[in-house]
Amino acid sequence: MKGIILAGGAGSRLYPLTLVASKQLQPVYDKPMVYYPLTTLIEGGVREICLISTPHDLPRFKQLLGDGSRFGVKFDYREQAKPEGIAQAFLIAESFIARDPVTLILGDNIFYGGDTFQRAFDEFKSGATIFGYHVLDPERYGVVEFDAEGVAVSIEEKPKQPKSSYAVPGLYIYDNQVVEITKSMKPSARGELEITSVNVEYLRRKELHVVRLNRGFAWLDAGTSSSLHEASAYVQTIEKRAGIKIGCPEEAAFHRGQLSLDNLESVVTSIPNCEYRQYLQNVISEARRLAK
Ligand code: DAU
Repeated sequence: MKGIILAGGAGSRLYPLTLVASKQLQPVYDKPMVYYPLTTLIEGGVREICLISTPHDLPRFKQLLGDGSRFGVKFDYREQAKPEGIAQAFLIAESFIARDPVTLILGDNIFYGGDTFQRAFDEFKSGATIFGYHVLDPERYGVVEFDAEGVAVSIEEKPKQPKSSYAVPGLYIYDNQVVEITKSMKPSARGELEITSVNVEYLRRKELHVVRLNRGFAWLDAGTSSSLHEASAYVQTIEKRAGIKIGCPEEAAFHRGQLSLDNLESVVTSIPNCEYRQYLQNVISEARRLAK
């Protein structure tokens, strides 16, 4: 499974925060936002990741994440010249995807809890797998409607009158047809290649699988000033209570076996003395203690 993190866009909703650094580089409590979707992919076992952003911001992502070896993954960086739609990612990353299935995650979507995605990646065979999450304000999102048997029957992008309370979060899994489907699409009225149109096409082909995320799962979208603040508060609450970190890619890579204990130790030596380093040192000590 290949992975794409889409981290471009105009960032206009967060102005003036985004005048200098893009939305996905903003802090969510104690880490840059992009660390959270990156961790979700690493937890799911994805090792080859294409990060797409604007020509202006791409150098900063390279500076932040490097070649990926610190996280046990390999990065490929690509530019999106203009924000012409989420689905454009499949055209930009066509040669990266090659003949593999691919998962796309939006750089401002934060997920926490459970191993639903990991299982979905492992079990994925063909077609498309997307998710449904119960929200109070479905009209802000792609909305999926289910029939009495729980089978998805319609998907609409930001409908004025939503047919259900299930929003489609920004993590999508597709087989290789996604490139050909996107190539055949026309831009929408707002001039974008819509991810919802890709999902509608898979639904038409009867190859769309929608998994409902359960109540124990947290999905936060940090796309507005309020939701950015709420996401930070959520992460802080969990981290302080449990003494664990959410969105720590080095730790996820270690737990997935993508970084050995020795690798993790050498990564930690390059981190300046700070709370993040102390946390990873504790992860190492605990692993050494358990190994005895
Ligand atoms: O968050 C989930 C929602 O994301 C889905 O439910 C919707 O179906 C989907 O359309 C999308 O809605 P948004 O209103 O959040 O889309 P937005 O245009 O804000 O883009 C989402 C992220 O993707 C944002 O961080 C910027 C990035 N992006 C977006 C576009 C259109 C790009 O990098 N390039 C683009 O061309």
